[in-house]
Amino acid sequence: MTKLSVTNINLSYGTVEVLTGVSFHLKAGEVVSLLGASGSGKTTLLRAVAGFEQPRAGSILLDGKALFDSAKNINLPAEQRSLGLVFQSYALWPHRTVEQNVGYGLMLRNIPKAETAQRVQTALDNLGLGHLGKRYPFQLSGGQQQRVAIARALVYNPPVILLDEPLSNLDAKLREEARAWLRELIVSMNLSALCVTHDQTEAMAMSDRILLLRNGRIEQEGSPQELYGSPKSLYTAEFMGSNNRLKGRVEAVNGEHVTLAGDGWKIAGKAIDELTTGDTAEMVIRLEKVSVANQPTDNSLAAKLVTSMFLGDRWEYLFMCGELRFRAFGTEARQPGNEYWVAFPQEASWVFAGA
Ligand SMILES: Nc1ncnc2c1ncn2[C@@H]1O[C@H](COP(=O)(O)OP(=O)(O)OP(=O)(O)O)[C@@H](O)[C@H]1O
Ligand SMILES: [Mg+2]
Repeated sequence: MTKLSVTNINLSYGTVEVLTGVSFHLKAGEVVSLLGASGSGKTTLLRAVAGFEQPRAGSILLDGKALFDSAKNINLPAEQRSLGLVFQSYALWPHRTVEQNVGYGLMLRNIPKAETAQRVQTALDNLGLGHLGKRYPFQLSGGQQQRVAIARALVYNPPVILLDEPLSNLDAKLREEARAWLRELIVSMNLSALCVTHDQTEAMAMSDRILLLRNGRIEQEGSPQELYGSPKSLYTAEFMGSNNRLKGRVEAVNGEHVTLAGDGWKIAGKAIDELTTGDTAEMVIRLEKVSVANQPTDNSLAAKLVTSMFLGDRWEYLFMCGELRFRAFGTEARQPGNEYWVAFPQEASWVFAGA
């Protein structure tokens, strides 16, 4: 069942167009992430759904009812949209306790005191904050403050929760833990969530679907596996994962198999864009697909190991082959200065038209 349906949103600040023809939907119980580089329009899109920005055109429906519709001149104010919101900064009130922060919106809505207290306690308990209700924000850790902001958004039982970089103020380790419990919380409460992030790993870990935004347009939409494993454009291929990028010239085309060549090298790959012999093109290959051997192997280049870095769970190597530089992962220490054979599996070596 479609919960939220966003159609053809166009939004400008003055003469600058920030969102162009953005359409997507959110099903009941689904977590969808808006992923994109800084300035791509993620916050603006979330704010338009929340009712803080007015698009020039398009429509936004919740359970089939218009929150915004430019053609029908409908634009419900934010407070009538009843969506749960967690901002990019938590924006807790510093002079109110945790309980008061979470319950403030209910008080504004004239919910009786006893019911407010009970709903606040349930929201806090759900987030593991039940014992911290009397504290002030400055007496909490960053992770606790962030959970208070989420409790404040959940206390209304909103049909859809909108989260703008909800984990951005946490350090890397806490962030990894937090994304697991946040997803678990959203799923267990049977909420639908639209979550903004610029972190691709976080988007993949948390979401059922990802919308990749690029300059205010949706570049590609799909499951985390689709975006990571079957990118349709050079931009998506590059945005996701850690990659090698080899620029060259198309030497031969045979169906979807192409040969890319450069100064003193040649690699077979899989064409994603339509290519013809002589085109300039770029190959993208994820680091984990590249393998290193001591002898020549299929579709490999002889390359000198420049640097070898220990990352704890694996090694990362930097190779040079003529003017080419590329990286690979491996499980053993290797000697810089030595020559190895670096293999690029053809199916995983995606070739796109040159940018
Ligand atoms: N109030 C405003 N007036 C004019 N331009 C704005 C305004 N707010 C945002 N912009 C511009 O709109 C574009 C999109 O901004 P937005 O905040 O949506 O990006 P974002 O994807 O959330 O980026 P980040 O990851 O840095 O938070 C940017 O180019 C930004 O400079
Ligand atoms: Mg933003």
